[in-house]
Amino acid sequence: MEKRKLIIDCDPGVDDALMLAYAAAHRDEFDILAVTTVSGNQDIEKVTRNALDLLSFYGMDVPVAKGMGEPLVKKSQYAPETHGESGLGACVLPRSSGNPVDENAVLFIRRILMGLKEGEKADIAATGPLTNIALVLKLFPEVKEKIREILFMGGSLSGGNVTEAAEFNFYTDPEAAKIVLHAGVPLIMCGLDVTEKCTLTRGQILKLCQSGHPVARVCGDMAGFSLENTSDKYRGETSMHDVAPLMYMTHPEIFKGGFHILDADCSEGPARGAVLGGFRWWRNEETEANVFALTDADTAKFQEYLIAALYSVGGAADPSGL
Ligand code: RIB
Ligand code: CA
Repeated sequence: MEKRKLIIDCDPGVDDALMLAYAAAHRDEFDILAVTTVSGNQDIEKVTRNALDLLSFYGMDVPVAKGMGEPLVKKSQYAPETHGESGLGACVLPRSSGNPVDENAVLFIRRILMGLKEGEKADIAATGPLTNIALVLKLFPEVKEKIREILFMGGSLSGGNVTEAAEFNFYTDPEAAKIVLHAGVPLIMCGLDVTEKCTLTRGQILKLCQSGHPVARVCGDMAGFSLENTSDKYRGETSMHDVAPLMYMTHPEIFKGGFHILDADCSEGPARGAVLGGFRWWRNEETEANVFALTDADTAKFQEYLIAALYSVGGAADPSGL
C-alpha cells in the first residue's frame, strides 16, 4: 500500500517526543516529508534543537524546519512544569550534528506541498500551537488543494488544561486555531476529550524506564517527568496527547468521534482559547461541519500500540548514560 505523505508540525515537548518515536516506528506507513517546529512547550530554539536530537536518536533522516517563535497575537507561555526547562523533561540526548533547513517552516511547508506531483496530496499532523499552519493557509491558500487532511492535537469540548476553558495549544494561539478551523480543509481534531484517554500508567512508565532498549527507556524517562511533575502524579497516569493524531492514522478503529461545527474563542476574557460550538442533528447537517472531533479511545489498545512502537524503534546506538 502506498505510504501516506506526512508533514509533522510540533513543539517537542515530551508527548511530541513520543509522537515522533511513534512516527519512527511506522515508517512503512508514513512518508515523512518534514518535521517543522513551533514555539509552544518551550521556546523555538529549544523545540527545534529537541526535534533535531530526537530524529537523530530515532534514526530518522527527515528535514527539520524552524517555525514561528511567537503566536500570532500574544506572547508565548511555555510549559516547563510538564516538559522541563529543556522541553524533554530531565533527558539529555546526544546532540545531533544536523541543522534546520535555511527556510522558515511556513515557507518550507508551502514548498513541499506545492512540489507534490499533480494529484498528490499530503497530510499534516500538528501537535503544537497552530501558528505555522495558520500562516501557511492564510499566506498561500493555493496549498489547500494539496492537503488531504490536517490532524491536530488541540482544543477540548469539555474544559481546558491550562484554564478552565482552554487547552494549551488553543490557549497559546487561539487566533491561529480560528484560522485553521475556518480554512475549509478537512480537519481531524484530537482534543482533550480523547487525549485524556490516551495515557501511559505509572507502572508502564516504570517498566519502560527499566528497559534495556534505549528508545523505550528514554521515552519512559520523559513520560515519567510529566507524570511526576504535574497533578498526573495523583492520577497515576499521564496523557501522551500528541500520539493520538498519528495513532488515528494507523489504528482509526480504536477511536470514536463525530462531526462538529466549531470555532475558537479569541476574546480577552476567561474563555480565551475555548472551543465554541457543537452539533445538533435536528438543526445542523453534517455537510455544514468543519471538523471531525475525536471524543473517545480504547485506552488499553492505545497503550499496547504505543509501547510496542517504542520497543520497535531501532534508533541510534545506545548513548552512554541514558
Ligand atoms: O494540551 C496538550 C498539548 O499541549 C500537547 O500538544 C502538549 O505537547 C502541549 O503542547
Ligand atoms: Ca505538543
